[in-house]
Amino acid sequence: MNIKNSPIGFFDSGVGGLSVMREAISIMPNENFIYFGDSQNAPYGTKELKEVKNLTLNAVDFLLDKNVKAIVVACNTATSAAIEEVRSKYKKLIVIGIEPALKPAVKLSRKGKIIIMATPMTLREKKFKLLMEKYKDESCIESLPCAGLVEFIEQGVLDGEKLEGYLREKFKDYLTDDIASVVLGCTHYPFVKKPLANVIGDHVPLIDGGLGTSYELERKLIEKDLINDSKEKGNIEIYNSINDNKIIDFCYNLINIKI
Ligand code: DGL
Repeated sequence: MNIKNSPIGFFDSGVGGLSVMREAISIMPNENFIYFGDSQNAPYGTKELKEVKNLTLNAVDFLLDKNVKAIVVACNTATSAAIEEVRSKYKKLIVIGIEPALKPAVKLSRKGKIIIMATPMTLREKKFKLLMEKYKDESCIESLPCAGLVEFIEQGVLDGEKLEGYLREKFKDYLTDDIASVVLGCTHYPFVKKPLANVIGDHVPLIDGGLGTSYELERKLIEKDLINDSKEKGNIEIYNSINDNKIIDFCYNLINIKI
């Protein structure tokens, strides 16, 4: 089989990475995609580093068994914990990670604070510290660890009073000041843009890295001459460590819902 026709593998701790994969599908509809969500072990962001490294390496092996031509670690937490290990273990493979999209937020140059929502692990790790170091003199940036938010999305709760209550509590110290923008530094969070806008106002730009990451994937595929040249729409296969049709159906819905 021509390697160009091989699928692209996406991985996340759960359903969140679909916010990235849906962008990749929109820019490369003729590619085949395989998604693996580890919802059985979600959330990753409050686990020990070693455990997240192991879970990530296992997920990568699962995707490699499906003969993928590239892997997107569509999880900020798994990227910060394990991307170096994945790259050094599979030197020839295209491996794309994701990190909070701080650069576009800084470039907007809006008045007020840039707030970065992410998991505790993402905000604690070296990768994020380096990112902050790069931009800290250009803008006023605050990290907002959001333990507990991934669980809403994993349970299919994408709106409602309880979720808005959670978000209101998280943002209570910021609502009286100007918020320049909010960076969604976890791939689950784009699915709760609406309740978030209800809490902080729909004038605040919400920035996520899904599209930027997908363009990086496309660039790498072009560079290695691995773009699928089929004229047909590609296949999408979804797997989850919770072996239940309900979660698989939910995943297909997440690819198509308007966010
Ligand atoms: N989607 C993951 C991320 O981007 C969520 C991590 C978790 O499971 O806590 O960080």
